[in-house]
Amino acid sequence: MCGIVGFIGEEQAAPILLDGLARLEYRGYDSAGVAVYDRENNALSVHKAKGRLKVLSDLLQGGAAVEGTIGIGHTRWATHGAPSDVNSHPQVSQRGKIAVVHNGIIENYAELKAFLLANGVEFRSETDTEVIAQLIEYFYRGDILTAVNRVLHRIQGAYALGILCVDTPDQLIAVRKDSPLILGYGDGCSFLASDVTAIIRHTREISYMEDGEVAVLTRTGIQCYDHLMQPVQKEVVRVDWEIDAAEKGGYEHFMFKEIMEQPDALRRCISPRIRDGEVFFEDFVFDADYIRNIDRIFIVACGSSYHVGMVGKYTLERLTRKPVEVSLASEFRYMDPIIDERTLVVVISQSGETLDTMAALREARRLGAKILSIVNVVGSSIARESDQVLYTWAGPEIAVATTKGYTTQLAMVDLLGLYFARVLGTIQPEEYREVLTGLSELPEKMERVLQDRDGVQYLASQYFNHRSIFFVGRNLDYALGLEGSLKLKEISYIHSEAYASGELKHGTISLIEDGTLVVALGTYGKLFEKAMSNVVEVKSRGADVLALTTESRREEMARTANAVITIPDVSDILLPSLGVVPLQLFAYYVALMNGCDIDKPRNLAKSVTVE
Ligand code: AGP
Repeated sequence: MCGIVGFIGEEQAAPILLDGLARLEYRGYDSAGVAVYDRENNALSVHKAKGRLKVLSDLLQGGAAVEGTIGIGHTRWATHGAPSDVNSHPQVSQRGKIAVVHNGIIENYAELKAFLLANGVEFRSETDTEVIAQLIEYFYRGDILTAVNRVLHRIQGAYALGILCVDTPDQLIAVRKDSPLILGYGDGCSFLASDVTAIIRHTREISYMEDGEVAVLTRTGIQCYDHLMQPVQKEVVRVDWEIDAAEKGGYEHFMFKEIMEQPDALRRCISPRIRDGEVFFEDFVFDADYIRNIDRIFIVACGSSYHVGMVGKYTLERLTRKPVEVSLASEFRYMDPIIDERTLVVVISQSGETLDTMAALREARRLGAKILSIVNVVGSSIARESDQVLYTWAGPEIAVATTKGYTTQLAMVDLLGLYFARVLGTIQPEEYREVLTGLSELPEKMERVLQDRDGVQYLASQYFNHRSIFFVGRNLDYALGLEGSLKLKEISYIHSEAYASGELKHGTISLIEDGTLVVALGTYGKLFEKAMSNVVEVKSRGADVLALTTESRREEMARTANAVITIPDVSDILLPSLGVVPLQLFAYYVALMNGCDIDKPRNLAKSVTVE
């Protein structure tokens, strides 16, 4: 996934572009570049550099070294062509007329490149994006919009494009298909960007581009066209979250800030959904008849959102007594799933832009299912293509490793389960009240867990040099272990594996030897004895056991485990919401002690908008 930004106005463009790219670096950061129209020389002034944005910014003296009031910028997560100066965007056409920044993938770029090569076009880069710039110039006969439109009928894949043509230096062109792109409206200026964080300092008035739309940005406004090049009137919405929400707020890392703000994020997610002791969803489109007629729930997601789905299976089956299947979105698309109009597909995605998840959504819809999505980013593609979206309102999540995104998704699944259970009559009033009260109290209990973070930091200091760590648990604890393991892997680069602890004896226990670190998750009271026996099982083979359990079980666990972390006792359903916090902190501190780049782990991006 990459980040793109564009500006046209009266101010110098380069500093605005670089500032926007700095807010988009979480989307990809192996190289960056800008192209600005140089009026004096009537040429495109293109500057790009491999490495973090700082390399480019230093090269351009923060933008002061580049004159011009219209430009485009890009920060890259390489897909086609290794990170390098020449493969960085903007990509420029052979005669230097067209510069393009691109987020997405052009699936038929090879055949288009062959066609252009056969017609004498010379390429410089290995990228699919250069094909777009070259093809626009190939079709260009003086009308840039016509040329762009001809190209759009030939390229296949996902793309958000910013296009600058040297012959029309008073306009930018924006194009969207399957990759997010927003438009910003300013006083005497216009913006395009992959997401709001890039331009919120300059404008809060934005529009979300739809698939197939083309926009022409000028200093006096923005004109949009549909895929038939018919003018369309875009709804302008006002973004109201605080600018510092997308800043670090004094924390060393976004990830730590986002771990610490989880109680507040939970309050924003939960409180508006509880009214007079009942779960309340505003404008909820699924009525009681539809809910009763559901014969299966399918949860589809990727990564940590998939792990929410794994917890959600236990929660929703427990509360609704309807069968729940969980599937990785990347598998779902190709598994010929058994789905019909009585299947409810729950799509979970923090960014709302994960391509695998979007594709799974479209496949589910094709098969006749209704789509309910749980999403954080308002107006994101997945949200807009769902029959019902439940926003988690966690606020912008910048760190690549999700934390508040995960816990607010869990809370939303709990609320959904309670809502359905109430309609279906599958929950006793006292349990309904107990779980709902537990949800309301979750933020303050989480604050207690966060207050004990020094204990987790100390344990991280004991174990940060391990090179392989197991997370074992059963039922809800197994699902929790999946997330704890991923958090550790993705930011500390330590190999880790989550295992259903009852399964260890069927093979994997052969890997346990003296000093192997096993994080034993034993929060789920009904299976605590089983968790204890697994602790004994791995200890007897030499493992060091770091156990996670509830406060009421601390003493018992401490008799066997090498170290114990506890969380407050809560309803079973809410255990993962609290249990994940020490695991997030453990991963954070271990990565910190290993000198890793916490917010921008190698090879990763915040939202994976490629297949
Ligand atoms: C989570 O820490 C990871 N960054 C990643 O697994 C993420 O959860 C996954 O890519 C799904 O993203 P989404 O929730 O935005 O769809």
